[in-house]
Amino acid sequence: MAREIASRRRNGGGDEGQASSRSNRRTSAHDSGSVRRNYSSRPPAPRPSFVVVVVVAIAFVGFCLVNVRLATRLGEGGAGAGGVTSSHPPPSRGDATGGEIAPSPAAAAARDRDANDDRVLAHFRRAGVDLDAASMRRLPTWSEIESLIGTEAVVLGLDKCEDFRENVPPLRRMLGSAGMFNSGTNLVTSLMKANCVIPERFEKYGPNATKEQYGIRWQCPWGKHTPVQLRHDHLAPKAKDQNADDCLPIVTIRNPFTWMKSMCRLPYSAIWDRRDSGAGRKDVCPHLVYADSPSGVRMPVPLEFKFSGHSLSYDSLAHLWNEWYAGYWRNADGFPFLMVRLEDLVFRQYETTRIICECAGGAVAPEDDFKYIVNSAKIGPAHGKKIDRTDMVDAWVKYGKPMAARAEFSDLDYDAAVDFVSRELMEKMGYKYPPSK
Ligand SMILES: *[C@@H]1O[C@H](CO)[C@@H](O)[C@H](O)[C@H]1NC(C)=O
Repeated sequence: MAREIASRRRNGGGDEGQASSRSNRRTSAHDSGSVRRNYSSRPPAPRPSFVVVVVVAIAFVGFCLVNVRLATRLGEGGAGAGGVTSSHPPPSRGDATGGEIAPSPAAAAARDRDANDDRVLAHFRRAGVDLDAASMRRLPTWSEIESLIGTEAVVLGLDKCEDFRENVPPLRRMLGSAGMFNSGTNLVTSLMKANCVIPERFEKYGPNATKEQYGIRWQCPWGKHTPVQLRHDHLAPKAKDQNADDCLPIVTIRNPFTWMKSMCRLPYSAIWDRRDSGAGRKDVCPHLVYADSPSGVRMPVPLEFKFSGHSLSYDSLAHLWNEWYAGYWRNADGFPFLMVRLEDLVFRQYETTRIICECAGGAVAPEDDFKYIVNSAKIGPAHGKKIDRTDMVDAWVKYGKPMAARAEFSDLDYDAAVDFVSRELMEKMGYKYPPSK
């Protein structure tokens, strides 16, 4: 399988090459046929000679294909496969192919790469997404993904699962998403609704019931973006008859550096000054500190967060991230919650969904029957309704990109972000800082 992927990758251009040599073959067979006929004194005996010509042509094309493949291989050995995939040349992929012949560290790297590619491909195969050569070239390898987000899904709050199951009887149990804007709340809800039920509820309500009757909701009664300190004071519409304690919040979180960039594009109801205080009042984002702060002082740019009649103030966008999530992971009441990373929901859909579902005593669809969320959820800030299978590829490409140096923030913002963002939460969630250069 891995080989097949590798050779399909290599033959990205080969598909076109094949098609064009096929049409060449047709033309040349015809040409040489007419040449023969011209030189023949006898009346044409087209059948046998035509067959011979075709056989010769096929042999020739086969020979060409082998050569093209060989040449491609040699080319990769020298110049690196990056030459083909100029838009996204991952450093590890380029130099490994030559190693398939000579036993060397490069050979081991090639084997690793193949194994990694196989993991990536298996995910798309199970999701029912057909990958063409172009998509395969764009996708990150599994080791590139692991170097970004680590080798395991990170979930906080698993120590409270048992409490939740013991304190809330199955027929009352609910799971609902919670999280800041742009953190994957819709993605986790779609995954859960498609794949998880509380079995006792399924038994009671039968096969045609609603997802809510199976225990899976869009949000917990206090609303998905509501700071959790208000979970007993604020009720989302249609939640008046529900008990907040019956709902296990699935809190989605995202690396704050990419999250802040997302908030710049789509701030929803977070309001802050996103323009430079300098002469031109240029747009600047995330704009965590004022450029004209007194020397040696970082003057944060305050932010106001509005939701259904409430308005809360935060020192800056970075502080909003810290405090909104601290409401869950530092909660003094000890109420149960699960905190999951958007990055895991993108790259480890099955594993992450299963962890969440089983925490609440739910049953998840088996891996073979698991419904991957390819396009229905709003994974990123784009809210559009695209019906396109490439959405999953796009998400992998987008979330699999190495972090840009300093997150492409201004120096002021980058230094402020490193200073402001909770190091403790970064570590708990296994998040990495963008490289400083
Ligand atoms: C569920 O819906 C299907 C299709 O509409 C129907 O055939 C089946 O009888 C229903 N089952 C129950 C238990 O209502």
